[in-house]
Amino acid sequence: MLSTLGLRAGYGGKPVLQGLDLDVREGEIVAVIGRNGVGKSTLMKSLIGLVPAMEGSIVYRDKPVEGLSAFKRARLGIGYVPQGRDVFPRLSVGENIAVGGMRKGGVSDADRRRVLGYFPILEERWAQRAGTLSGGQQQQLAIGRVLVANPSLILLDEPSEGIQPNIVQDIARIMVQLNKDTGVTIVLVEQNIDMIRAMAQRCYVLDKGRIVAKLEREALADGEAMRRHLAV
Ligand SMILES: Nc1ncnc2c1ncn2[C@@H]1O[C@H](COP(=O)(O)OP(=O)(O)OP(=O)(O)O)[C@@H](O)[C@H]1O
Ligand SMILES: [Mg+2]
Repeated sequence: MLSTLGLRAGYGGKPVLQGLDLDVREGEIVAVIGRNGVGKSTLMKSLIGLVPAMEGSIVYRDKPVEGLSAFKRARLGIGYVPQGRDVFPRLSVGENIAVGGMRKGGVSDADRRRVLGYFPILEERWAQRAGTLSGGQQQQLAIGRVLVANPSLILLDEPSEGIQPNIVQDIARIMVQLNKDTGVTIVLVEQNIDMIRAMAQRCYVLDKGRIVAKLEREALADGEAMRRHLAV
């Protein structure tokens, strides 16, 4: 469904991603793991189009997309949940969800019910300003805001960051359920071992802008190896 070939991208003419190859099949949940600063968020931004590719290709559903704006990639069904969530703090929960629905020209009742079915906390907090929610609630809102537009692929950048462990488990469970129910493909960036194990079917390990290892599901149980890949 998604592949990159020799992808190089970075800032100010200096590449952070040093020729990256990855492949994700339709319906998979794949994690990209690695230490701070190795280029995980740069990868996500370059997949959605917020950081331009300097070289290489990004193919989404058999179509090269590396030349398309983020807006056009979103229209093709790619949803992006940024690190730190970036909900609109002064808007209500409902208004944040409405922004997510603008791509489709509005949020229908069915869309709203679908999102609230996965994230019931958002219904309780519907009229509350997003900036007053807890980190875990904001994360659910950020995912809900993407979900309302019915993406085929969700890019999720460090969903566990700054969130209590029990909520991390809740969010992981909901995402796995969503994947089972709808077949949505998920690429997540993570450093939290619990989140990785609860969600990922397999992993790429990123270091200094390169894929240095690929781990299948069974390898995720190896705590020592996982810590080695993630240790600072
Ligand atoms: N806007 C920017 N301008 C210049 N350099 C940047 C910018 N954003 C990130 N970088 C640099 O690019 C490198 C990779 O950053 P990136 O944010 O992709 O790492 P990361 O793996 O997501 O880290 P973390 O785990 O801390 O989120 C770092 O050296 C960082 O300082
Ligand atoms: Mg990051």
